[in-house]
Amino acid sequence: MDDVWQNAMDHAVAVARKAGQMVREALHSTQMDAVMVKSSSVDLVTQTDQKVEKLIIQSVKEKFPTHCFIGEESVAAGEACVLTDNPTWIIDPIDGTTNFVHTYPFVAVAIGFSVNKQIEFGVVYSCLQDQMFTARRGRGAFCNGEPLQVSPQRDIHKAIIAVEFGSNREAQTVDKIFSSLKRIVSIPVHGVRGAGSAAINMCLVASGCVEAYYEIGIHVWDMAASSLIVSEAGGVLMDVEGGPLDLMSRRVLAANNQSIAERLVKEIDSFSPLRDDAPLAQ
Ligand code: IPD
Ligand code: CA
Repeated sequence: MDDVWQNAMDHAVAVARKAGQMVREALHSTQMDAVMVKSSSVDLVTQTDQKVEKLIIQSVKEKFPTHCFIGEESVAAGEACVLTDNPTWIIDPIDGTTNFVHTYPFVAVAIGFSVNKQIEFGVVYSCLQDQMFTARRGRGAFCNGEPLQVSPQRDIHKAIIAVEFGSNREAQTVDKIFSSLKRIVSIPVHGVRGAGSAAINMCLVASGCVEAYYEIGIHVWDMAASSLIVSEAGGVLMDVEGGPLDLMSRRVLAANNQSIAERLVKEIDSFSPLRDDAPLAQ
């Protein structure tokens, strides 16, 4: 089969590298008082997030003028978040903005590319580690050109699970997050970790460093690119209740295999945030 989207993927890798350079240059010059907030006081955004997204969208538009976009900061500015069958670039300019603000060293540029609502390629550039994670549908997943493979571990007791606390601090949500966490820690598992970037957590699953990652409350731009990196590394993706992954549902469970994933489904106290493609409030 012809790899019709290879040009687009090459462009995504090149622009992610350029974006990563911008992020690195801005890392130590971003002042805490220049940090803005979005959905809550702990949902942060900086001018660098906005500048990086503009850079990526402008450079893609020059090469692929008919393509569509879903970008985190464009959506924050009021653009619709709708995934159609058209070729669509799904962009998180900085995944791990809180890390970026605190110079905590896990920050990624994530670019997913979807056609007919199927991810064709994913690029996640962990820019402070200079790790370029890539996957092309049906062609495997790589980090800096080296093939990735999920962990072979089948015993949940010997697993590390990546989790995040997200940016919703409403009491009911926090209770649910902690009740799941308590049940998972008590299985017991070897450990629980969290990089502070959904995309990097999923690349850690793809790399075999952690067995699974789940989160309720993330967004399509946090997981589009990395979902393909996980599946192309041999992992599985599903909803936190065990059905198929729905990129717009704001819920994800990524694991090295079906049995680890299904075991976690039993322990996750699920809930349903407002979907990413919910109609905008008037
Ligand atoms: C966030 C990070 C974080 C996850 C949040 C995401 P952002 O993305 O991926 O790890 O817990 O749900 O929104 O805001 O840094 O792009
Ligand atoms: Ca972001």
